[in-house]
Amino acid sequence: MIAPFSVPAIWMPTRFHDIDTEPGTRCNLAGCENYVASDRVLEALAAPSPDLVIDHWDSQDSTLRRKLADAHGIGVDQVLLTSGATGGIRYAFEVFADTHTHIGLLTPDWPGFRFYAERTRGKISRLHCRDFPFHFDVDDIIDFVRETGIDFVITSNPSAVTGRMWSTDEIEAILIACPETLFVIDEADAIYPRRSGAALTNTYSNALFIGSFSKFYGLSGLRIGYLISPDAHADHLARTISPAELTSLSIIAAHAALEDGDYQFRTQQAVERNLLSLQRAVDGTAIRIAPNSQCFAAYLDTAAHLPDLSTVLGGLGVDIVAGRHFGLDTGGRINLSNPALIDRLIGTLPEVEQALAVTPAAPE
Ligand SMILES: Cc1ncc(COP(=O)(O)O)c(C=O)c1O
Repeated sequence: MIAPFSVPAIWMPTRFHDIDTEPGTRCNLAGCENYVASDRVLEALAAPSPDLVIDHWDSQDSTLRRKLADAHGIGVDQVLLTSGATGGIRYAFEVFADTHTHIGLLTPDWPGFRFYAERTRGKISRLHCRDFPFHFDVDDIIDFVRETGIDFVITSNPSAVTGRMWSTDEIEAILIACPETLFVIDEADAIYPRRSGAALTNTYSNALFIGSFSKFYGLSGLRIGYLISPDAHADHLARTISPAELTSLSIIAAHAALEDGDYQFRTQQAVERNLLSLQRAVDGTAIRIAPNSQCFAAYLDTAAHLPDLSTVLGGLGVDIVAGRHFGLDTGGRINLSNPALIDRLIGTLPEVEQALAVTPAAPE
């Protein structure tokens, strides 16, 4: 009998909730979602008409694509709506990668890329950055791609581990230096839409950008995201994306979320304030925090000889994503969006400090 082709399960650094399960009391900083929904989204979804439930709806809603195109300074045909950023990642691999493709992954990075890379059965090479604050320089990427002969690179920007972000100029330098390589830049975690590099697709044909409504716009449960492509590739992607990719409610919610500038501003403010409070709180302790986060995520790190931070925090009721899930030996990722949870984390720091304190060796 024909055997199934199996790869390690897709693993996403978040918590999947069951509809029937009561919310727990633990301090959950392990996800990378927004913590509050837009009121305009909730209003738009209240009492949907039966047609929205009964009918099939065009997944490539032209008004939503037009809004996204205008926001990014690109043409409407360059925007393709997908089921979350995850859909965009899957279609990027389906259209551009197969067993002959040499794929480049970065470590640390979002662990969900691995499945799609392995699914191609092609060659995979990895570039590692093990030193705090785990940020790759543009030259490191360029050298890696050129020296290893990579065809296809996928990476998150901002980094899904640390929240750090390459500027548009930095991405452009990479695209120019490696014109034969396709770069898939996953902006799913971005909270500053104006800093998107997606307009580079007007000039360069070797980049795709992925966006999400799951985080900044607070719609994880509705599954909507998008791919931004150079004109040269848009039709190839459009032909592959399922015509029934999206639900009607996700399209309606995305319209409302894009219009809700107040909600977006409040999210940015909350993240900035929480990062600052945390930076102040860890100052002078054994914990350091990756600076300049530009998304919900920030990375707490410790020296390698100390006990594992995610285990210590877990024992105190605080869940973070352990560094090993991103390919790191120390520390862990936290969600910065929720002030109450950040305060709870800060409240545990004296106990964390005690647990991390290295017991001095007894005098001889
Ligand atoms: C970098 C990155 N890419 C993709 C995803 C998946 O996002 P979505 O819920 O839009 O599929 C996430 C979040 O889980 C992410 O952090």
